[in-house]
Amino acid sequence: PRKIIIDTDPGQDDAVAIFLALASPELDVRAIVAVAGNVPLPRTSENARRVLELAGRTDIPVYEGASRPLAAAQTTAEHVHGPTGLDGLDFTAPPAIAAQPESGITYLIDTLRTGTPGEYTLVALGPLTNLAIALTLAPDIATLVREIVLMGGAWSELGNITPAAEFNIYADPKAAEIVFGAGIPLVVLPLDVTHRCLATPARLAAFRASGNRCSLAAADMLSFSERFDLAKYGWDGAPLHDPCTIAWLLQPEIFGGRSVNVRIETESPLSRGMTVVDWWKVTDRQANALFLRDVDDTAFYDLLTARLARLP
Ligand code: BDR
Ligand code: CA
Repeated sequence: PRKIIIDTDPGQDDAVAIFLALASPELDVRAIVAVAGNVPLPRTSENARRVLELAGRTDIPVYEGASRPLAAAQTTAEHVHGPTGLDGLDFTAPPAIAAQPESGITYLIDTLRTGTPGEYTLVALGPLTNLAIALTLAPDIATLVREIVLMGGAWSELGNITPAAEFNIYADPKAAEIVFGAGIPLVVLPLDVTHRCLATPARLAAFRASGNRCSLAAADMLSFSERFDLAKYGWDGAPLHDPCTIAWLLQPEIFGGRSVNVRIETESPLSRGMTVVDWWKVTDRQANALFLRDVDDTAFYDLLTARLARLP
């Protein structure tokens, strides 16, 4: 199986992405590294541990990375995810497992350096702060990463946190600039894709019909975050973002896109965090990312429903 490290800010959709990875024998989830994003770091770390507990995978270590973005004021998204970040789940006791004492950034650097080149794929589901700090402290790791598969940015769908920017990139544009400039193969799942993967009532009912704890938890969590999105978009279901990264690792053939140049706007107050995508190749800037825009959303939900059903 392919070794992955998931860098994440759970978040209901992050939680479902982690479930999908854990349910998939093609992937070997080596660790989860929490980053501040949807909610502050202590919550994202705790939430990552709750998700592992639900899936019965407390053997996977959780590390904590950055608690603040590099250069921007901190933006969180409790308005979407609720004050805990995982609203929709019933929490009673605190999570049974603790975070690792070592910093998530040290973990990333050391693991990549002691592995063989190309051994690890990084999956990034939140602001790119941890990866940017690791790349700044240890630029040599850029040649060691197999690729980074990330949810973030947009081309035709533009923004969800401002009119111009998607949340993960907006929350730390400096970090995104570093990651997009690192020369590492990047696969980008932007809003163009995720806005087509709508969690409709029928699809959530299919999760519930599986009846297992994790499928029910996924339905409960997404029903919560949906409340906000349904009102916002007026669609038949809320977009499901982060699991698209894992689905790409499992079934890349259900996605379509192009290798293009993507730059990040870091300065303009109006469009900060915008992904400037040279989709039509109107510049001679070199491609730095496989930027996906198409998805077979039925195939995506078939995959997700079937895989979640394999979990406890
Ligand atoms: C991204 O922002 C977060 O709210 C979600 O978890 C996802 O990673 C979507 O813009
Ligand atoms: Ca996320």
